[in-house]
Amino acid sequence: MSGPGISQEGSTTMWHYRNPVDIHAGRGALAQLPALLQGRRALVITFPEAVALGLDARLRSLLGDQLAAVETGVQPNPDVSWLAPMYERLWRDHADVDCIIAVGGGSVIDCAKAMLAPTPSGTFAELLALLAGATAPDAGRPRSLIAIPTTAGTGSEVTPWATLWDQARGRKHSLHQPWSWPEAAIVDADLMLSLPRGSTLASGLDALSHALESLWNVHRNPVSASLAVSAARDIITTLPLLLARLDDVALRERMAVAALQAGLAFSNTKTALAHSLSYDLTLEHGVVHGIACSFSLPRVMALAMGADDALDALLLRIFDADSTDAAIDRLTRFLEGLGVSTDPGSYGLDEAEWPQRVDQALQGPRGRNFITTGATR
Ligand SMILES: NC(=O)c1ccc[n+]([C@@H]2O[C@H](COP(=O)([O-])OP(=O)(O)OC[C@H]3O[C@@H](n4cnc5c(N)ncnc54)[C@H](O)[C@@H]3O)[C@@H](O)[C@H]2O)c1
Ligand SMILES: [Fe+2]
Repeated sequence: MSGPGISQEGSTTMWHYRNPVDIHAGRGALAQLPALLQGRRALVITFPEAVALGLDARLRSLLGDQLAAVETGVQPNPDVSWLAPMYERLWRDHADVDCIIAVGGGSVIDCAKAMLAPTPSGTFAELLALLAGATAPDAGRPRSLIAIPTTAGTGSEVTPWATLWDQARGRKHSLHQPWSWPEAAIVDADLMLSLPRGSTLASGLDALSHALESLWNVHRNPVSASLAVSAARDIITTLPLLLARLDDVALRERMAVAALQAGLAFSNTKTALAHSLSYDLTLEHGVVHGIACSFSLPRVMALAMGADDALDALLLRIFDADSTDAAIDRLTRFLEGLGVSTDPGSYGLDEAEWPQRVDQALQGPRGRNFITTGATR
């Protein structure tokens, strides 16, 4: 990863980009799954609707006797209250299975990441202690993950991060381990055709947020920046068209690739201020992640602009704008045009408290990635 002050055109700082995920993409790519297993048996983790959609039956027939079990009980926003019993059951009953196949949105892929590593006692509490900074227990080899997204949003198929929620305690855990990178990703837009409008909108805006957050980020480097600019431009043109034609597979595919590119961009930078602001909104007000991390983007962009000429140029290019105000206005109109309010009051937040929320969010782990902390809020 790069350090602060890097410029897009001529970098004066050394930088590094790495992503180890083996990516297979295109319509029908799901058929490559048995070959990717290379003879291993696997557990499938998927979302509840996969049964009615026939996806569960398709996976069973594709995998045959390579399939150890199918787990369909994944709800949106994986919560420790149900992750714990699932973790303990899957390690107790299937300790010999080497591979997990996650077929679903970010909730399924993040849930699967939590199921990868064994602990000495086989308890989820021990895994959470590891996330809290305890020394990694050596309890054997983690399983491999093949991630197959069915939403075009989180990019979790190409990142090592997982967000594990604890609604009862009003907090979240971030999983990030050397073993939590997927081994492979299969990005097949055919699997996204059944995604309803609300989740198509939220996950698409999550991807836009990932692209922009990887740009106004102290870890930005020339590779992450070009992926992010391409992703953001494609999302801005494609998402409104897709929301009017949910069954258009060409548009689904463009969004799938854009979300993948945004994932590749932030896999090396992490997110920044808009995500840091989002977590309390999801925990306290139940706002879905993709909306919570995108409604504030125009305000966050206003803070980011002016800090770094190269960043300003990238943002102006994304919005085909010739001034900061025009770019912010275009982003605001884009979100409002999709029915997403950019006013904190619409989410139960008090406008008077906004500056304080921003100050607090800047101090969080994601907020500290934000490119500037000096602007007036
Ligand atoms: N790991 C990361 O880097 C990362 C990044 C961003 C967000 N996240 C996390 O991802 C989660 C959000 O993921 P998401 O936006 O992909 O949504 P999701 O996985 O929560 O899915 C949204 C809803 O759509 C359903 N669904 C998924 N695919 C479907 C399909 N093809 N057809 C019909 N229904 C389908 C799900 O069952 C669910 O009810 C949050 O918990 C968020 O914290 C993780
Ligand atoms: Fe996100």
